[in-house]
Amino acid sequence: MNSTYLNSLKSKSEIHIEMVCLGNICRSPLAEGILRSKLSDKFFIDSAGTGGWHAGELPDKRSIEIAKRKGLDITNQRARKFTIKDFSKFDLIYAMDNSNLKDILQLAPNENAKRKVHLILNEIYPNENKDVPDPYYGLNDGFEKVYNMLDEACNAIAKKITT
Ligand code: 4NP
Repeated sequence: MNSTYLNSLKSKSEIHIEMVCLGNICRSPLAEGILRSKLSDKFFIDSAGTGGWHAGELPDKRSIEIAKRKGLDITNQRARKFTIKDFSKFDLIYAMDNSNLKDILQLAPNENAKRKVHLILNEIYPNENKDVPDPYYGLNDGFEKVYNMLDEACNAIAKKITT
């Protein structure tokens, strides 16, 4: 994100950040919980999925489990579908992978909306456009790997928006 936009964000009384994946049950609920744990109440953190199949559901039990092992409770969350209104509700929108990024950008109504959208792993691997792998169909250790990647990325985000 450019430094003018970052500085304008820092002067706001509240900053709204959204994490987005496909189903909003595996990756983005973890990203939401992790980032919230690192920031004050000045930051409103939420998540959504580009697909609506799981709307209203709890996070996947494997995400709940890894979060619990790391000390976070994400069972307050319910899946929700990303909508065009999210571009006005949020200041920063982080996509978990390139497919989510493309789907979000296709809905963006204007350039101002587009510039809010970023790939989350670019926060730790600038310009590399890496994906947070979808752990849904994989083995259980996929969730721990995803957790650790998101933890690192959220440390970078928290540092950038608070210092
Ligand atoms: P997520 O994982 O995008 O990290 O929440 C998925 C969850 C469900 C499905 C796909 C990905 N699904 O096809 O139902």
